[in-house]
Amino acid sequence: MSTIERPRLSELADPALLPDPYPVLAALRDASPFAEFDGMFVVAARHADCSAVLRDPRASSERSRSLLAEANVERGTPSFLSLDPPDHTRLRRLVSKAFSARVIAALEPRIREISTELLTAAGRADGSFDLVSELAYPLPVRIISELLGVPANDHPRFAGWSARLAHSLQPGFGLSDEQARQRAAVTSVARAEFAEYFRELIAARRAAPSDDLLSELIRAEDEGPRGGPGGSSPQGSNRLTEDELIATCVLLLVAGHETTVGLISNAVLALLRHPAQLAALAADPALASAAVEETLRYDAPVQMTGRVARGGMLVGDVAVPDGGLILMLLAAAGRDPAVFAEPDSFDISRGNAAGHLAFAAGPHFCLGAPLARLEAAVALQEFARRVTGPELAGLAYKPNLNLRGPQRLDVGFRQVLPA
Ligand code: HEM
Repeated sequence: MSTIERPRLSELADPALLPDPYPVLAALRDASPFAEFDGMFVVAARHADCSAVLRDPRASSERSRSLLAEANVERGTPSFLSLDPPDHTRLRRLVSKAFSARVIAALEPRIREISTELLTAAGRADGSFDLVSELAYPLPVRIISELLGVPANDHPRFAGWSARLAHSLQPGFGLSDEQARQRAAVTSVARAEFAEYFRELIAARRAAPSDDLLSELIRAEDEGPRGGPGGSSPQGSNRLTEDELIATCVLLLVAGHETTVGLISNAVLALLRHPAQLAALAADPALASAAVEETLRYDAPVQMTGRVARGGMLVGDVAVPDGGLILMLLAAAGRDPAVFAEPDSFDISRGNAAGHLAFAAGPHFCLGAPLARLEAAVALQEFARRVTGPELAGLAYKPNLNLRGPQRLDVGFRQVLPA
């Protein structure tokens, strides 16, 4: 391991870094892999190391296996994001049909309709609008709500729970013990309120089924015996318990709320800072997918994720003991010079941006990736085509070091052209 002084991991939690954490991420990547906290916490930030860990069956997603208490944030029935096979395989299979590339592609007209409507409303502002609250946030929220079958009118009830759960996805290394305790308490209240909300909604849908994903999952729950109180259903069957159903709904709703907003706003921000590339996209909407992939590589909306070593593992040449935590800095991997030439340049014409790890890799590869990609591509096409004279007029980041993106992105404009 290098003897050059590297930044401490906790420096990443410095709010002054929110506008640009990348120099610190680069220094951490150069020093990686390395261990902190008596060897129980290993940081992987090179593309090859992150990619290998994400695909390694010994790298567990069950945070409860960690010997570090702070990793154990998901109490109660965990969603399949935090489960290993066979439960992970069974639960993921149940929802994966609804997120296949084919099913998602059929949503394009609806995604375009909502984008069009939102941009038209934004264009009524006088000279500038906030891209986050006008487009990047409401578009994915409306789509995931419709897909799942959650009434749009209920949004004010669950927006706060969703934000609190998203906040809890950050690693705890910037927090004092007291702050960590407070965060765990706030998270557990939000989780309980969310569960109660879904219990009511499930009862209503059971009485009057519809053609949404929630009704489909309820049918799966209804079709057979349980695996015992709180227990899991037999592997290979198509069943889930009510607690598993609720955890799945919460996962999908939160993922649909808190991630794509970052992708759309990070992309618009990068394009505003590179006007020639924005103009190229306006002239050729087919470039939207490349712009989306380059944004995922250059400014990842999910900056990091973790695994717990089962039975001891190696990350590069660094040993992780059984129960040790591996933190993967996905955003640093996206700018690894070993994979991407001139990694700190935003260039939608580079050929290999899609090799990023922004959606992870291996068995937990983001289930919502086709949806996120399509929503972002459509939003960028509509933005580039309709907003004339766009310029960056204001920017503030949300105080979250994992789910990265602007809280506010003011876009100055001359006109929003008719749809
Ligand atoms: C730009 C937007 C998004 C990004 C960057 C993103 C990123 C990620 C990442 C990195 C993971 C893997 C986490 C890990 O293994 O530790 C993941 C998993 C997941 N994502 Fe996304 N996500 C996005 C959008 C979405 C959307 C829109 C949905 C669905 C509505 C979604 C649903 C999921 C689910 C269900 C998982 C768990 C998969 C599993 O454990 O098998 N994501 N996502």
